[in-house]
This record gives sequence, C-alpha cells and structure tokens, in this order.
Amino acid sequence: MAAQSRKGMGMMQTVEEVMTKAPVIPVVTVQGADDAVPLARALVAGGLPAIEVTLRTPGALAAIEAIARDVPDAIVGAGTVLNGAQLSDAVGAGASFIVSPGVTDALIRAFSDAPVPVLPGAATASEVMRLLEAGFTHQKFFPAEQAGGVAMLKAWSAPLAGVRFCPTGGVSPGNAPDYLALPNVLCVGGSWIAPGADVARGDWAVIEGNARAAAALAGG
Ligand code: 3PG
Repeated sequence: MAAQSRKGMGMMQTVEEVMTKAPVIPVVTVQGADDAVPLARALVAGGLPAIEVTLRTPGALAAIEAIARDVPDAIVGAGTVLNGAQLSDAVGAGASFIVSPGVTDALIRAFSDAPVPVLPGAATASEVMRLLEAGFTHQKFFPAEQAGGVAMLKAWSAPLAGVRFCPTGGVSPGNAPDYLALPNVLCVGGSWIAPGADVARGDWAVIEGNARAAAALAGG
C-alpha cells in the first residue's frame, strides 16, 4: 500500500494532513543546523509548520535532524529525494514526510514501503496515472508553472478526478491564489518564503513576515 495513509498509532500524519496544515509548504535550502533551526522557528511563528528541506546541501540531513529535535511545532520533511537511499537517510534523520520532483520505478517501490507519508512528483498525465496506479492519490505537480500551471491542473481535474496536488515550481504570492482556488489543489510549495539571501543573512524577521503573508493566502 502506498505510504500516504495513516500507519500505526503514533504521531504520524497522513500526507493530506501535512498538505492542509497551511496553504503553503515552504521549500528551503539550508547549510546545516545553525541556520535551519532559527529558520524553522520563523516559519512556524509565521504560520507555516510543514517545511520541506531540500537534500541539496551536505548539511541538509543535519538540518532535518536539528529541526525535528529542536522545533517541536514544525513538521519537517525532506525534498529533492531521488532514490531509496536518500529516503532512508531522510527518515533516519527524522523527516516526517518525503517529497520528490518525479519518480522512477525504484523510487515508486521505495515510496510504497516508506514509513512516513510521501508526496511524489508528476508533470504529465501519464506520470499522474502511473502514480495513481501505485496508490498515490496525493502528488506534487512539478515544475508547475513550466509544465502548464493552472490551465494544466484545470484540464486534469475531470479525467484525473480524485488526485490532489501540491503545485511547486514557479509559484509566487502573485499566482498562488489562482492555484489555491482549484478544487484539485490542497496547497502550493515554493522557495519564495525563505530566499537564499535572507537565510544567509539570518534575516529571520523578514522570513517570518513572508511566512505570515503566505499563511494568509487563499484561493482567489
Ligand atoms: C522545488 O524544489 O520544489 C522547487 O525548486 C521550488 O521551486 P521554486 O524555487 O520555483 O519555488
């Protein structure tokens, strides 16, 4: 069974619960625990508890571990997961959910056995169908703007009814309301809330403000 539903009795959330904590899942790239913890605190304070930490830096796993340990109100996930080894590493570090930009046969197998909720990526109707066949009703639409944006999701809503998306890639405060207005969209993802320059400067107040504005977004 695909790891998108509740398993066990603990604090595990379903992927739908992760996707509906707030209208936006911030996608963050950090160097390690030192910047990850204050960043996560700022995002949580601004109203965005579900945070995707990309596995794109050597310190990403340490960052996930530190957030999971030190920011109890955060729901920290790992993004840019490309293979089963990264999935295991991320879960070992304490990731509460896993996001991928797309899938392979091997990644679908790994995701099917994952002990935490997963949000696999798709960019075409065939990819959405392949994931649906494997039991994944909740998917990341990536890269959203480049792959057809709001119009693509509207076109999918009838033939691919039942699939719920988190569009990510090119999403901004300007176009997020258009995505969030769609019935097949539960949330959007994006890096605009925590720009690299603000993270590098440690400008947590700016990031908290961005998070607060993002948390107030709604379909329009
Ligand atoms: C991702 O990793 O999901 C995307 O790179 C985020 O896309 P954005 O930077 O366009 O928000």
